[in-house]
Amino acid sequence: MNILILGSGGREHALAWKTAQSKRCDKLFIAPGNAGTMVLGKNVPIDVNDFEKLKAFALENDIRMIIVGPEDPLVNGIADAFKTDSATAGISVIGPSKAGAVLEGSKDFAKEFMKRHGIPTAAYATFDSATLEQGLKFLETLQPPYVLKADGLAAGKGVLILPTLEEAQKELGEMLGGMFGEASRKVVIEEFLDGTECSVFVLTDGTNYKILPEAKDYKRIGEHDTGLNTGGMGSISPVPFATKEWMQKVDSRIIRPTIDGLKADGIDYKGFIFFGLINVADNPMVIEYNCRMGDPETESVMLRIESDIVDLFEGVAQGNLDQREIVIDSRTAASVMLVSGGYPEAYVKGYPIEGLDAGSDSIVFHSGTAVCDGRVVTNGGRVLAISSYGADKASALSASYAEADRITFRDKYFRRDIGADL
Ligand code: AMP
Ligand code: GLY
Repeated sequence: MNILILGSGGREHALAWKTAQSKRCDKLFIAPGNAGTMVLGKNVPIDVNDFEKLKAFALENDIRMIIVGPEDPLVNGIADAFKTDSATAGISVIGPSKAGAVLEGSKDFAKEFMKRHGIPTAAYATFDSATLEQGLKFLETLQPPYVLKADGLAAGKGVLILPTLEEAQKELGEMLGGMFGEASRKVVIEEFLDGTECSVFVLTDGTNYKILPEAKDYKRIGEHDTGLNTGGMGSISPVPFATKEWMQKVDSRIIRPTIDGLKADGIDYKGFIFFGLINVADNPMVIEYNCRMGDPETESVMLRIESDIVDLFEGVAQGNLDQREIVIDSRTAASVMLVSGGYPEAYVKGYPIEGLDAGSDSIVFHSGTAVCDGRVVTNGGRVLAISSYGADKASALSASYAEADRITFRDKYFRRDIGADL
């Protein structure tokens, strides 16, 4: 079977790495891909949101399966676009319908969904510019810190956590005044939850599901979780507090009610669900849903899936995931992100990367790279995710850090405390 993966980051490189290992995969294409994915398949210069071009490419190249990496095309309805066109209806899209992707595309929708289906999450209320006054008053009833969330997609920047009532009230006015454009036309105000986060991933065919290895990611640029938020500075799997008992709570209180709730609401969902959880006094609560895999969690999670992932994807497409098996590697996987100096603020692109060709036991996933005059150069804020196996956390991390020290590019930066809190 010919397979097309959409996206261009470390997550997509990791998905391509795992997909290329499948005996079910004949030709692999990645649109648009990066300097890492071109070694595993053929990069195709098509935008992930250009559905007409993607359809034409899929038909010309006998693509039977499309694995969607990022949320954008899902929220824009790629699954529906393929399904409603008789020429492409037979191509399996691994990713939910537009109606399902709203779980990520609208925080207000996600909160209402959780309330309706009794899924544990922070108390909240939603406001728009017509109800700003009520919103300001609602903030007065809460304890600091204050959590404000733009309803729509805001490139990962739509959540503000503010220490004082004054700042929260000011930011609420600014958000509703268009700070994130259409995305903050509505704002969710939420109770602050104090705990440790954990990312849990599920692959579902709409009825059955498989729980993938969980992971923790590290979002802040600075060590000990300080400084600005980033797209993610590293990840580790498994997460020690996600014990069998804890995961059973996650399954019975969160995953099962979510899958059943989607079905009860008539929402077609075939793909990944990423549950952003927080552990509050040993009880998992949902911070957010995403309709895709996490980045950089995927760069650890894929290492721990022993089964053929295309077999699982076929189970998703055919609605018989219950007849497929998922085998999980018991080793630890750790991923350390090398970023451009200055990131997540301004940074320079185009620096040559040295040391990529030396053999090592680590797997180097490309996040933001390009090929320029035959050399691999930096091409983004997050540049490379270095992933390694280990018998335990310490050995997985030390392997990734040895490689992180060895690979060089100008102004390289990475956090040295990934996993240190666990
Ligand atoms: P989100 O985009 O919803 O994942 O939010 C971004 C980050 O803000 C999360 O990963 C958490 O670290 C933090 N966050 C969001 N909601 C809450 C909350 N209710 N309580 C505490 N932290 C939160
Ligand atoms: N690592 C968090 C995310 O992918 O949203």
